[in-house]
Amino acid sequence: MTTEVVSPSLIPTLPGHTYVSEDIFRAEQEHIFEQMWFCAVRTADLEKAGSFKTVQIGRESVLINRTRKGEIRAFYNICRHRGVKLCMEESGEANRSFQCPYHAWTYDLEGKLIAAPNLTKMPDIDRNEYGLVKVHVREYMGYVWVSLADEPPSFEEDVMGAIEERLGDLRAVDDYDIANLSLGRRIKYDVKANWKLIIENFMECYHCATIHPELTEVLPEFADGLAAQYFVGHGAEFGDDIKGFTIDGSEGLDRIPGVGDDHDRRTTQ
Ligand code: FES
Repeated sequence: MTTEVVSPSLIPTLPGHTYVSEDIFRAEQEHIFEQMWFCAVRTADLEKAGSFKTVQIGRESVLINRTRKGEIRAFYNICRHRGVKLCMEESGEANRSFQCPYHAWTYDLEGKLIAAPNLTKMPDIDRNEYGLVKVHVREYMGYVWVSLADEPPSFEEDVMGAIEERLGDLRAVDDYDIANLSLGRRIKYDVKANWKLIIENFMECYHCATIHPELTEVLPEFADGLAAQYFVGHGAEFGDDIKGFTIDGSEGLDRIPGVGDDHDRRTTQ
């Protein structure tokens, strides 16, 4: 297999082994998912003090919770004693602390070690030093973003900059007030495929007319997707007789109050 460009109209697919090689996947985990800012959870899912979620980021399990001061913290989900996974659940409410299931080391919502069997007989143990290991966290647009990097890339450049580059202006998303939108439904897909295939499929709309005819009915522009060159992020316009962004183009929900005429009747991905 080769990535040699045969025709300028086609961008070559990566060689087949890059989708199945364990070495390449490990390198991707290390250099992409464990370095970049990762959109981890909805802030609204951490409703009150003690609400937590555990999220797999690269090869690490990360524990994200809301503290008693109402702030969000994220830690490696690993007990500092013998490295057991601290929280097994995907989400839940901790009362005031997290307790390791193995020898009962207990950490408060700020990650500090607050109790352990015989801890008072071990005065040399610094409870902050043996607290949970923090990871970088940032709240933006109603989401908690996490970076496992020692020195994370600039959030302003990498995340906000990417939005600006794609949409021309951060206001294009600010107007939607995403943080205050209510969750209608959550669907989780477990896809047996390498992650790059999912991204590649999402990034092109060459397949839309054949695979998603109901979508191209609503967004006729998507039917014109060129092979691997069509950039779907600019805000595709609804068809003339389409009333709303629904499965059959019928009336949808009311317009979000902050969204102006320039973004109404468009979908932006
Ligand atoms: S491994 Fe967690 S308390 Fe021992």
